[in-house]
Amino acid sequence: MKKYAVFGNPIKHSMSPLIHSYFAKSLNIELSYEPILGSLDKFETEAEKFLKNGGLGFNITLPFKQDAFNFAEIKSDIAMITGSVNTISLKGGVIHGDNTDGSGFIKDLKNNIKYEVTNKKILILGAGGAAMGVIPNVLSEEPSELKICNRTFSKAQILSKKFSSFGDVDAITMDSQKKLQFDLIINATSIGINNLKFDLPNNFFKKETVCYDMSYGKAANSFMNWAKKNNLKFYNGLGMLLEQAADSFYIWEQKRPLITDELRSILNKQL
Ligand code: ATR
Repeated sequence: MKKYAVFGNPIKHSMSPLIHSYFAKSLNIELSYEPILGSLDKFETEAEKFLKNGGLGFNITLPFKQDAFNFAEIKSDIAMITGSVNTISLKGGVIHGDNTDGSGFIKDLKNNIKYEVTNKKILILGAGGAAMGVIPNVLSEEPSELKICNRTFSKAQILSKKFSSFGDVDAITMDSQKKLQFDLIINATSIGINNLKFDLPNNFFKKETVCYDMSYGKAANSFMNWAKKNNLKFYNGLGMLLEQAADSFYIWEQKRPLITDELRSILNKQL
């Protein structure tokens, strides 16, 4: 049987095994997909062992995406740009590294939410790995502007410099004096994971502003509550999770699984 997996730490709550098993079943492909709790200092050894034992590929979640980048022998363009890999595939004995987080995010916006980023004013909150993973894909859709706002301003500046050749991107502060009003606000911070209260200046949004949290479940509640309080449309990152998984599945099996309402409701019950 074909062997796939997901490496992470922690890994217990990962929904990837459920998603990939569902995809495989729906396409009549026999495969196993196991969650692997990676040891913090032994990623390379354990990843190598999985492939030596017949593994054909695996996903990588926190905190191993940069380790996976170093582990890959050949890297896709987007992996090179972000310096992070969430999908390893073994092809002809060569270890390939790709990153489907950004493509999954854009697909969720376009295919599921039916939201076009082109010519929109976008705000990304946060400047960690999650933000970095989607910024190049957002810029390639040609928004009219992309601002990055982060608690530690210098990190937002580093990211905006890093991606300045991809489009119009700047770092801003919460108390920016300029009049800023966004069409789409993306939360890529871990504020919700820590269950902290969320707040944004009133001038950042208007009544049509759409809010998107890259996390889901309880972790998305802080931003969701803020969006609801301000009567704004809100989406969580479950669609992104599904779309990035479908893109990984395609890399491995060259078949695109359908993301069904049934699968969404199975996952929603797990949250
Ligand atoms: P990830 O890889 O998931 O992006 P990360 O690299 O730890 O995780 O990034 C978390 C992001 O959430 C950072 O942008 C962080 O801001 P700092 O760069 O200032 O640390 C942001 N963040 C975390 N807790 C926050 C809080 N209480 N208020 C505002 N931003 C917060």
